Amino acid sequence: MCGIVGYIGKSQAAPILLDGLSKLEYRGYDSAGIAVYDGEHIRVQKSVGRLKALSELTHDGATMPGTAGIGHTRWATHGAPSNENAHPHFNRDETIAVVHNGIIENYLKMKKYLAGKEYHFASDTDTEVVAHLLDYYYKGDPIEAITKVMHRVEGSYALGIMFREHPGIVYAVRKDSPLIVGHGKDGNLIASDVPAVLKYTRNVYFIQNEEIAVLSEDSISFYNVDGEEIQKESSAIDWDINAAEKAGYEHFMLKEMYEQPKTVRDTLNPRIRDGAVVIEELGMTDEEISRIEKIHIVACGSAYHTGVTAKYVFEGMARIPVEADLASEFRYRNPILRENDLVIIISQSGETADSLAALREAKRKGVQTLGIVNVVGSSIAREADKVMYTWAGPEIAVATTKAYSAQLVAEYLLAVKFAQVRGEITEAEAASYLKDLQKLPEQIEMLLSNKERIQHFANRYISARDVFFVGRGIDYAISMEGSLKLKEISYIHSEAYAAGELKHGTISLIEEGTLVAAVLTQEELYKKTISNIVELTSRGAFVLAVTNTGNTQIEKAADYVIYIPQTNRWFTNSLAIIPLQLFSYYVSVGRGCDVDKPRNLAKSVTVE
Ligand code: G6P
Repeated sequence: MCGIVGYIGKSQAAPILLDGLSKLEYRGYDSAGIAVYDGEHIRVQKSVGRLKALSELTHDGATMPGTAGIGHTRWATHGAPSNENAHPHFNRDETIAVVHNGIIENYLKMKKYLAGKEYHFASDTDTEVVAHLLDYYYKGDPIEAITKVMHRVEGSYALGIMFREHPGIVYAVRKDSPLIVGHGKDGNLIASDVPAVLKYTRNVYFIQNEEIAVLSEDSISFYNVDGEEIQKESSAIDWDINAAEKAGYEHFMLKEMYEQPKTVRDTLNPRIRDGAVVIEELGMTDEEISRIEKIHIVACGSAYHTGVTAKYVFEGMARIPVEADLASEFRYRNPILRENDLVIIISQSGETADSLAALREAKRKGVQTLGIVNVVGSSIAREADKVMYTWAGPEIAVATTKAYSAQLVAEYLLAVKFAQVRGEITEAEAASYLKDLQKLPEQIEMLLSNKERIQHFANRYISARDVFFVGRGIDYAISMEGSLKLKEISYIHSEAYAAGELKHGTISLIEEGTLVAAVLTQEELYKKTISNIVELTSRGAFVLAVTNTGNTQIEKAADYVIYIPQTNRWFTNSLAIIPLQLFSYYVSVGRGCDVDKPRNLAKSVTVE
């Protein structure tokens, strides 16, 4: 889950590398390093901590002259964050430098092998094995050495490589870790993700698995694992560069929360025509949709939480049995998948290792797969049989908000489509659902504009020790996401519990003043959850309720109420999550946490 960049061109490399890394810091931020060829040697500088430390150390790159280089921002997997373990890593005579994102799974075996050939290791990383293996196989032809290494190493990698003997070239190769090549005017770049190159070019190549890219100042060529040259098409990126910048907001998370109305609109609008859902990219005939016997929704983190919500929606509205699964569980439990099942993989990045492995497992078993993905051209988008994009644009804050909201509405659209095709809802009902969906952006805007009330409430809880989130049905799914948001960015212990299950355990943790956030958006369950609230308050809990406008009976039971506008009962998550996101955000700000880059986490988890 590290970030890599590389540059070769007419300009000074180091400032470009540092700038590119700053756009990738969301991928990892415990140490960073750059390597630049200075006309004679490959020079390396590394620093533990945030990128800022490396920028200071190198005077924003000024102390590292040269026009070719590679850089890395690290999220430690093998070996603690330290200068020794930070990338780039060298071969023994410092003529080959390597940056790596991914995990070399057979590195211990390789290490043993290389140790027998007098190679010594300066770090605890798996990456160093690659540098020494390259050294071992290098006989003057870098491509030959790289392909030989590709045949020896197992696991995932995106690598940026420089050879001192070939100073005008940067090499890159990938397998199961993302990597793109940017074709700039004054030079060419490699990067783990598009935002790192946007300032220099919008013309990018997506490197596929086991492809090698060879970049010089004015040329880019590609090779396969057999060392044969291959041709690739470039793609034009049409993202707004401002989308990857903070645009005046204090944090990316805040900016991205405020982008949710647009994200929801952009994901919905192109797929609603004349009161009907049209998802062209789905490419499924009505007959195929009618044949679906079961849906498996597989994802990680917040994407999984949208899947839990979608389970209720698909089952309730379209009457299709759904299993929502964590990708890390699904991939290893030999899931029972039948011919007429549909596997939906949900992922913002499209690169999450477990989600990608789950997708491959489903494909191996021969079932239809659909990716709901945000990053265009990402691995899941490429490998799934069908892909439906969430048009959220680049999301930088580690804690997802706008991609989550976009995923939700993409799933709602599918549910409406499937329900109508299968005759579970009439045309008129579908049209009325779509009307409700199209009101969501405005309703989200309204909730965001009430942020002061939540900010004020959040300030009272910045010292909380535990917070519990409870709800039933969809409200339980909302609680799961509310709880995750709070714990990941504020480091306050929080748990989501199905409200009816409280008395089987969690209620023993309630003390005088414990904060419980209760979500009540399902009218037929109000009474049940209110009974649970009473059980909680009578044991001292302070209850914040998030409920629909009109549910005034709540005021007798809860201590503080936030109302959300009326929408269809299936779509309430899109609204109820907004105050919970704001709450987490303001608690995190109040505690002085690093909102956008919480400790120990990374945005794109490309390791198991
Ligand atoms: C990380 C992120 C989460 C995200 C999860 C799945 O844990 O911090 O925000 O929900 O990965 O990521 P994906 O890119 O597959 O949606």
